[in-house]
Amino acid sequence: MDKKVYELINDQINAELYSAYLYMSFADYYEEEGLQGYANYYMIQAAEERDHALIFRNYLHDNGEKIKLGAIGQPDKEFTDFMGPLEAAGEHERYITARINAIYAAAAEVKDYRCMKFLDWFIDEQMEEETHADDMITKMRLFGSDAKALYDLDREYASRVYVTPSPLANA
Ligand code: FEO
Repeated sequence: MDKKVYELINDQINAELYSAYLYMSFADYYEEEGLQGYANYYMIQAAEERDHALIFRNYLHDNGEKIKLGAIGQPDKEFTDFMGPLEAAGEHERYITARINAIYAAAAEVKDYRCMKFLDWFIDEQMEEETHADDMITKMRLFGSDAKALYDLDREYASRVYVTPSPLANA
């Protein structure tokens, strides 16, 4: 595998594990504030991010490469209102999208069609991630100031269940 493509994918394992850690910190915030549904949503999001790391890990192993795991950064955001984590999530997902695009660009440059095909799933996934993050911001903006509406929103997020991502389910 091309060295640059390898390094970007290996680093992406770390970025996805950091995402899991970040979302767990969001879940902690909501749980401590009494919004169990939002906490549930972000704990499932954390599990999905761990899965994303495993998908990249499997891809490197399937291609005969070794993994170099690095230290995971500390999530350092302090939140003062319920909107805070939602906006941070939207910003973070756009950052992750940019990283996936950079891997794709590096793979395209060396005509690594296998890697480009592998990344297609992540490109679709990032669109979903950004859409969901934006939707949560919109709903909080519209309904967050009304206690009953916020209660209903929290219940909606309490119903989210974990689903194994297809690249892992089919691995
Ligand atoms: Fe693994 Fe939320 O992107």
